Amino acid sequence: MKSVQKHAIWRRKGTFILAATGSAVGLGNIWKFPYIAGENGGGAFVLMYLLCICLIGLPVMVAEVLLGRRGRANPIMAVQAVTRESGSSRGWNVIGLFGVLAGFLILSYYSVIAGWTLEYVTTAARGGFVGLDGESAKRAFEALNANKSALVQWQTAFLCMTVLVIVFGVTRGLETAVRVLMPLLFVLLVVLMVYAAYVGDFAAGASFLFSFKFSELSLKGLSLALGHAFFTLSLGMGAIMTYGSYMPSHHSIVKTVLIVGILDTVVALMAGLAIFPIVFATQGVSPGDGSGLMFISLPIVFGAMPFGTIFGTLFFLLVTLAAWSSAISLLEPAVAYLIQRFRFHRLSANLLIASLAWLLGLGTVMSFNDWSDSTYFLGMNFFNFIDFITASVLLPLGGVLMAIYVGWFMQRRSLRSELRQESRKTFTRWFTIVRYVSPALVLLVFLIGLYGKFAG
Ligand code: TRP
Repeated sequence: MKSVQKHAIWRRKGTFILAATGSAVGLGNIWKFPYIAGENGGGAFVLMYLLCICLIGLPVMVAEVLLGRRGRANPIMAVQAVTRESGSSRGWNVIGLFGVLAGFLILSYYSVIAGWTLEYVTTAARGGFVGLDGESAKRAFEALNANKSALVQWQTAFLCMTVLVIVFGVTRGLETAVRVLMPLLFVLLVVLMVYAAYVGDFAAGASFLFSFKFSELSLKGLSLALGHAFFTLSLGMGAIMTYGSYMPSHHSIVKTVLIVGILDTVVALMAGLAIFPIVFATQGVSPGDGSGLMFISLPIVFGAMPFGTIFGTLFFLLVTLAAWSSAISLLEPAVAYLIQRFRFHRLSANLLIASLAWLLGLGTVMSFNDWSDSTYFLGMNFFNFIDFITASVLLPLGGVLMAIYVGWFMQRRSLRSELRQESRKTFTRWFTIVRYVSPALVLLVFLIGLYGKFAG
């Protein structure tokens, strides 16, 4: 493959882990996980989610990294290179196209939510959290969402930040920032967890998250858990494939994937353990409060704790940073594709994709005010629809196609060569899961989800 020589490879050992963790840990962990767990029965959802991570997420992640490293190019062209190598049908190239599309769609709403965190940085810095209770925290969140121009302003700011990094290259500024600030986010989450345990109802929060009630299990919860496993690991759309394409070939894929998966899951669970004790100790706030859950519950903690203004500002800054390093991986595949396939200039590719994402994001902005009750899109409002199409359809579909491709069509010789660091036993186990277990489970949950959506 000619692209092998031309394609840059990361030199520093930890860079893949850092970039992949930067992509994986984001709003999905801190904002989305707690709120969908809250809406779908807590422990029942968490258990499904953990099972999906282990049986589907991690094995598929190995497959996705492997595809990228073998193809050494952007998702669409990496898949093309690999299909050429194994002489399989060109139909597989849809994997790359789906991915570019999913990344773009996710970016459109991701930047609106990241806009909320930016607004909350300024509110925290102004001391706006002091003395908040359940009612006033809710009112503040509702006021922000009623203010369309504020939402658009922050969405625009966040998209500009993302474009800036992609234009100037990912490695310089952001790499250092992520290296230093992600551990800080981790520390701050621990502080927050301890404080929430102290002022909130830790027992109720923990038991909500970890006690499994069979009666809470639902078809919808199951399909959301699967979609979220893909979403939170940044799987199924080529982001991880792109990063894999920069990974040196002597690194162990399985070990690296395990580290990223564990870090990502731990951050999500910590966010849950910081948020739910507060939710249960606060009047007027409940687990099912929806997408505002984090923005309503955490300001209450910051408002009550010593140095809460500083901690609060820092926390929302760090969440913005986590979202930033994720958004980059949503934008980069589409940009890389335009450049490598159509010889776009890097700047124009960026501006084109970002403007389109901005435009589409306006639909999400409207979904939190004028269009919130609209049922125009398969019974959902615009934001819920885009979320459904990406997390519940495109990502699992992309992921399962990757698993089937790697498990059934890729040359065994290429697989062994990419996984030569792993023991025979690890290889065989992984191969069996990717070949049979993950595809069967995804298809099953997928059908169940569709059934639940349209029949229930
Ligand atoms: N994983 C990120 C989060 O949890 C979001 C994300 C970044 C993503 N890149 C992705 C999701 C690619 C799916 C596909 O916030």
